[in-house]
Amino acid sequence: MTALAGLVAHSLVPVVVADDAACAGALADALVAGGLPVAEVTFRTAAAPAIIEAIAGRGDVLVGAGTVLNPHQVDLAVDAGAAFVVSPGLSRAVVERALERGVPALPGVATATELQAATELGLETVKFFPAEAAGGAPAIAALAAPFAGIAFVPTGGIGPSNVAEYLRVPAVAAVGGSWMVPRDLVAARDVERLASLVRDAVALAAACRTRRTPT
Ligand code: 3PG
Repeated sequence: MTALAGLVAHSLVPVVVADDAACAGALADALVAGGLPVAEVTFRTAAAPAIIEAIAGRGDVLVGAGTVLNPHQVDLAVDAGAAFVVSPGLSRAVVERALERGVPALPGVATATELQAATELGLETVKFFPAEAAGGAPAIAALAAPFAGIAFVPTGGIGPSNVAEYLRVPAVAAVGGSWMVPRDLVAARDVERLASLVRDAVALAAACRTRRTPT
């Protein structure tokens, strides 16, 4: 299964901000225990490459890099074992380096102009960021109309109270967010509480999928 197919299969992408690579084992344990073996580890901290390397080395979690702002960070991420690269905005240099390195890039878009630029780079899946501030699920539905075949991964301001709105939009491939892996619980290596949050998110997503495609 490709990395993008893995993200779609799980419907959810936990967005991790962590200061210390020592949390990697607990984080991965919690994701696996919660039934969502996926992590986007953001380059908001210097610990990101070490965390990605530790998680990728286990082999039981689909791990990628987030907040990737330049080609150098693409190299750091892929060298560490990242299976996908996410950016807050659209950078041709980042997308091209990721594709050169053989991993999918998910650049952030928030407007039709940015989305059109992403399609010109050959992309079919993009991040929609900052999701809530940029119009939420209705904005994605509106953007999807003229861009048939584009899949969106919204993040930014999404949590238990509004994740269902996004998952019900057919063009949404998966929803990302930090609510599943709060920074303080990751730092505390609180496997039990992290797994519980992850499990709750998985249950919410499963309920949405059931409603979207009733049998
Ligand atoms: C991201 O980096 O993708 C977002 O900032 C995550 O947004 P959230 O913290 O509001 O979930």
